[in-house]
Amino acid sequence: MITEIEAIKLRHSVRNYTTQKIEQEKLDLLNAKIAKCNEEGKLHLQLCTEAGNTFNRLLNKAMGLGSAPSVIACVGEDAADLEERVGYYGEQIVLYAQQLGLNTCWAGTFNKKAIPCTVGAGEKVVIAIAIGYGATQGRERKSKRPEQVAPGTHPDWFNRGVEMALLAPTAMNQQRFEIRLGEDGKEKIKDKVGPYTKVDLGIVKYHFEVGKRA
Ligand SMILES: Cc1cc2nc3c(=O)[nH]c(=O)nc-3n(C[C@H](O)[C@H](O)[C@H](O)COP(=O)(O)O)c2cc1C
Repeated sequence: MITEIEAIKLRHSVRNYTTQKIEQEKLDLLNAKIAKCNEEGKLHLQLCTEAGNTFNRLLNKAMGLGSAPSVIACVGEDAADLEERVGYYGEQIVLYAQQLGLNTCWAGTFNKKAIPCTVGAGEKVVIAIAIGYGATQGRERKSKRPEQVAPGTHPDWFNRGVEMALLAPTAMNQQRFEIRLGEDGKEKIKDKVGPYTKVDLGIVKYHFEVGKRA
């Protein structure tokens, strides 16, 4: 299996899928990973093998995703840090899916009423992740430069973290975050105002950690 770093470098959002179903063996591996993330992150993420009408919004038709065979419903008990945790743990599943040879796309645009998942009392659906075999592998997109999100001179581990953070998916590719080195010698990652920036923040924090420990 490819490493997480390789998965980060290969991953692009994929919006068009083939009809190929995800094999049972891979579903089992994904479900085991999701169970681990749910336990650690106190979340209720769910893999729905049949996406059904999840992606029947007009925007989905215009931008794609309507062909996604399956979806991960990102559900959790409402809390101030719910969105950030969804990003942090959801991205671990996205990267694992890439390692399994699957493709994904985070999706804020979807039909909340149609997504076939269980939402318990006090829980909410934050976002969806389309998953399946892509018709393509997606493509490279524009990125901010390291000095735009983390000005200054930094140690190697920090630069590796920034490099991985800039490869993270963010809503509309907004990359609205900044990273600095705190006085305690640890990275400080902050989001700026924008749609879904808390989910983005969790995703970016996870990518940074992968780079840091490489
Ligand atoms: C929180 C979040 C919400 C997103 N919502 C959508 C969406 O509704 N529709 C869509 O096509 N892409 C969506 N995306 C995918 C982004 O457009 C994509 O990650 C970004 O353009 C960067 O491209 P990349 O993922 O290929 O690196 C979303 C991504 C994130 C992180």
